Amino acid sequence: MERLDKILANTGRWSRKEAAELIKAGRVTVDGLPALRREDKYPETAQFRVDGEAVSGERLVYLMLNKPAGLVSATDDLREKTVLSLLPEHLRRVGLFPAGRLDKDTVGLLLLTNDGELSHALLSPARHVDKTYLVRVDGVLDEADEDAFREGMELRDGLHCLPAELERRGPGEALVTLREGKYHQVKRMCAARGKPVTFLKRQSFGPLTLDEGLAPGQWRPLTEEEEAALRRAAGRV
Ligand code: URA
Repeated sequence: MERLDKILANTGRWSRKEAAELIKAGRVTVDGLPALRREDKYPETAQFRVDGEAVSGERLVYLMLNKPAGLVSATDDLREKTVLSLLPEHLRRVGLFPAGRLDKDTVGLLLLTNDGELSHALLSPARHVDKTYLVRVDGVLDEADEDAFREGMELRDGLHCLPAELERRGPGEALVTLREGKYHQVKRMCAARGKPVTFLKRQSFGPLTLDEGLAPGQWRPLTEEEEAALRRAAGRV
């Protein structure tokens, strides 16, 4: 048995306060009868409806986060604060995790979801989902760097990098597009060119582009169009 406001909040669709408001407004029924109090307890097997629509406990959630620097891309960590700490409590209980990782000091677009299948498909090395980064380096980028990225690189540490794109934006700034996502890949590729990365921001991930209206640390749910585009990119139409 669980409190009604908690059962509704556990779906990730409403906070407990919002759930209480729905109950107060008479918009919630349990087994066909209007629910009266947020603190009333019900078995999870009861049929819950809001505005007549069945509420299922399992809902797939997709959030776009503008990751700030200083947080790790993990669900829990003994020492460091994770990106999940940016979410309100009711969204921390629906099994969200980052689809892919950005380094602690990397900022920008991070997809948070509880859709394991979609995440797996998007991150599969075979699928080659493009990721674009704004990169600043210590040094001056030149045509030889563009050529090296275009040809694909074999790093001295053994990392084999597929052809990528480096589009110069200024002496020490470029947009880099990778078709894969190996550990510290942008930093390692730039370091191999003798130009260490000083700033790294992911601007796109497959069909998703970072919403510039999101300040660092802010997030929003994906739109229906973004969700559909993501499903197409994952081969799950
Ligand atoms: N490449 C990196 O080196 N770091 C990131 O966080 C992402 C891509």
